Formats: sequence, structure tokens, C-alpha cells
Amino acid sequence: MIKLKVNGKNQQFDGDPEMPLLWFLRDELNLKGTKFGCGFGMCGACTIHLNGKPTRACLTPVSAAANASITTIEGISPDGSHPVQVAWQELDVPQCGYCQAGQIMSACALLAKNPKPTDADIDSAMNGNLCRCGTYLRIRAAIHQAAELKASAATKPAKAGAKASGAGTNFAPRKSGKQ
Ligand code: FES
Ligand code: FES
Repeated sequence: MIKLKVNGKNQQFDGDPEMPLLWFLRDELNLKGTKFGCGFGMCGACTIHLNGKPTRACLTPVSAAANASITTIEGISPDGSHPVQVAWQELDVPQCGYCQAGQIMSACALLAKNPKPTDADIDSAMNGNLCRCGTYLRIRAAIHQAAELKASAATKPAKAGAKASGAGTNFAPRKSGKQ
């Protein structure tokens, strides 16, 4: 039996240990936010965090996640208040949306280790996440905005308890000008 933690909850799996983690998440745990795109590690739609590291769930056997901590898009925040989620909404990033869970997971991992990434840092970290709709410029802008939101929250402790809505920052929601 394989034991693992998914979004903070203990889980176990009795089936084929070589089954892709993606099937376990989607079919056994009903966590449908993580998407199947290519199935061979090339598109990033299935990106989750395995012990904090962005990982392709389509290529990862369940056995590789034994005793690990997994985070899916559903576990990023309980209420959509993670700065990356807030920035994604404010900049209206998604088009069809299919790739976006993977994009957000990679963006969260990037900001966790690099709180102020440059364009080059972003391009490098997000390189494996493909978007057929071409939302790359909005993704890059949203990562910069999320970094600002995080920094703003860190330097304004009086507002730290408030929901990260973008209030108190210099960033007005931009709802037009899709790229
Ligand atoms: S579905 Fe996993 S990388 Fe494309
Ligand atoms: S928003 Fe459509 S594939 Fe990225």
C-alpha cells in the first residue's frame, strides 16, 4: 500500500504502483483541476507540486509519490486568495483555460523560491508550460503582479489578515487588452 498526502490530507493507494499519479489524482481522488494534455511530459498541463517541486503528474508513477506531500491546484489556497490566483484574475489571464492550472502551479513554485523574478527567470521557469491560446504575455505580467502582491502583503502587516484582493497596491485590475 502506498501512502501519501494530497493537499494536506492523508491518502492511500492499493493499485498498480506504476500507474501515473495523474490518474490517481483525477480518477481516484476526483481532483479534476490537474489536466491531461500530452501524456509524455511536454506540455505542463498536469503540473503539480511533489514536496514543493513542480512535477509532471503524467510521468510520475504513484510509487514515486510514496510518503510525499502533493499539492494540486485545488490545494493552492482554500479560497482563491493566493497572490498568483489573485493576479491571474486581475489580469484576466486565461483564454480557454485548459493549460492554466499547470501554469499557476509552475508560477507558484517559481515565486516560492524566487520572490522577484525577472522576465528571463519567468521565461526559464515557465518554459515547459505550453499554451495553445498564446497567453504567455499575460502570464508573465501576472507573475510580476503576484510578486508585487506578495511583497506588499509582507511589508504591510496591518493588512496581512485581509483577503489578498489587490486593494492597497498600485495594481488596478486590467480587464481589457488581451494579448
Ligand atoms: S500531460 Fe503531462 S506534460 Fe503534458
Ligand atoms: S489558455 Fe488555452 S491553452 Fe492556455
